[in-house]
Amino acid sequence: MTATESTANRTAALQHAEPPQVAPQHAATRRAAHGQAALEPKAAPEVANSQAATQLTANRFPVHPQPAAEQAAVRVPAAPRSADPQAATEHPRREQPAIEVRGVHKTFGTHEVLRGVDLTVRPGEVVTVIGPSGSGKSTLLRVINHLEDLDAGTVRIDGELIGYRIRGDVLYPLRDSEVRKQRARIGFVFQQFNLFPHLTALQNVTLAPLTAQRRDRAEVEREARELLTRVGIGELADAYPRRLSGGQQQRVAIARALALRPRVILFDEPTSALDPELVGEVLDVIRDLADGGTALVIVTHEIGFAREIADTVVFIDAGAIVEQGPPTEVLDHPSHSRTRAFLARVR
Ligand SMILES: Nc1ncnc2c1ncn2[C@@H]1O[C@H](COP(=O)(O)OP(=O)(O)O)[C@@H](O)[C@H]1O
Ligand SMILES: [Mg+2]
Repeated sequence: MTATESTANRTAALQHAEPPQVAPQHAATRRAAHGQAALEPKAAPEVANSQAATQLTANRFPVHPQPAAEQAAVRVPAAPRSADPQAATEHPRREQPAIEVRGVHKTFGTHEVLRGVDLTVRPGEVVTVIGPSGSGKSTLLRVINHLEDLDAGTVRIDGELIGYRIRGDVLYPLRDSEVRKQRARIGFVFQQFNLFPHLTALQNVTLAPLTAQRRDRAEVEREARELLTRVGIGELADAYPRRLSGGQQQRVAIARALALRPRVILFDEPTSALDPELVGEVLDVIRDLADGGTALVIVTHEIGFAREIADTVVFIDAGAIVEQGPPTEVLDHPSHSRTRAFLARVR
């Protein structure tokens, strides 16, 4: 189903007041039918009833993907951020998280791929995400970057809500152009590199800063050359992707992510598509970034690398975080049998 079709279906679904005889794939609507969420088609924010909002299950913030102009309002509990008491204890200055994922649910068809995910990443923290194939790792990254909309929950980057605007206790979807602007501050490195084949390495790196961020061309190009040098391929600035090895292409992709001057970079199995002899050069570049103050979330099957680089290892299985903690705990002394079973399989 395309995004447009999906939005159209959801729109149709919301026009049925109750009971919602909707296709089963609309998770937010299904939750509404089960009293877990209050969907309020066409409600104005000023009439939102805070008592109803507080009846929502904690960490379940249903959202609605329509354009802002004709949106259906959805009530959410007010001020859900910084609710992590552990983070407050560890960081008495109550540092703003770089990434804050709260109560995120995502369903494809009838398959609930993310089942209430909470994740906090501090500025400069390196988080590696491990878990079986199909457990929802890529979807989690895509949700953080708002490449997927949410059925419930919130994502914040540096405190800013991603993909939605909140007024009172109601979430409104942002326009595509606004989402693109937000996304331009979040680096994303894909397994398959996803470089534009018709653009040179340099042009791949400068594209988003010039278009989405509208920065000065001379400055952007100078910075892009520096970034390509930093990832070890300065001399390949004018080469097209087809002329580059997989490792070189992935390093262009990392330079492209860095060119956004992001607070956060998300990596989805950045070395999985590489020949074994090229894995090291890409891991070296990522290792270098880990000291740079940018928060990194890295989905990886390289357990040794995950151990070495991570402040925090997150193990995800069947759409839920099973356990998370320092590598010495999660990888060496996992507390959950599913983590132990997974590690036994991949080692
Ligand atoms: N766009 C999509 N449409 C339908 N199903 C999807 C879509 N994206 C992912 N899935 C399904 O969601 C599940 C989790 O996928 P994914 O997040 O890619 O897992 P992982 O990255 O952990 O391997 C898989 O069962 C996958 O088939
Ligand atoms: Mg994946």
